[in-house]
Amino acid sequence: MDFKLKQSSPDSWLETVLGDFDQFLVDHASCEKKASGMAISMISHYPDKPILVKAMLDLAIEELSHFRDVMELLINKGLQAGADQKDHYINQLHKAMDQGKEAYLLDRLLIASIVEARGAERFGIIANALPDGRLKTFYTSIAESENQHYRLFLTLAEQHCDGARISTRLAELLEIEANIVRQLPDRPALH
Ligand SMILES: [Fe+2]
Ligand SMILES: [Fe+2]
Repeated sequence: MDFKLKQSSPDSWLETVLGDFDQFLVDHASCEKKASGMAISMISHYPDKPILVKAMLDLAIEELSHFRDVMELLINKGLQAGADQKDHYINQLHKAMDQGKEAYLLDRLLIASIVEARGAERFGIIANALPDGRLKTFYTSIAESENQHYRLFLTLAEQHCDGARISTRLAELLEIEANIVRQLPDRPALH
């Protein structure tokens, strides 16, 4: 199974990011930290699912190493990590979540997959726009890594949830995500 996002990020978002790249880096660091925390919270929530636990352990470490890499960029620029800000995009996606044990797991995995796919898209856009150099190489590798994460969450959904339900729900969530992206104000941030 595979999917494509239904709405591309607007050029105005990229302009906003490039216009205040320091602020973008601060937000990026916070996103990597949250991604690692999310993987750990999956382990706490589903200790009875060994395949999921193993995957989330690896992911938590990988996201934490992304956090370390971005923090290094911040520190080298003399910047400080900022307070975690409200992420309208993530909050709205979470509001769309189905309740009920099975439905909730499916939604968590599919939303995580979509969020990673959006991350891959946006980091890829940034990598493309940056001039040759270390930063471009870094964002190219981050985009590639988030691409693998979107596949990972999709595979986990296939391993833990009903196949027929996955395609229907994925289509719904992709539509919801596209609408959120259309209405998202441009910020020097990942979302
Ligand atoms: Fe990451
Ligand atoms: Fe990721």
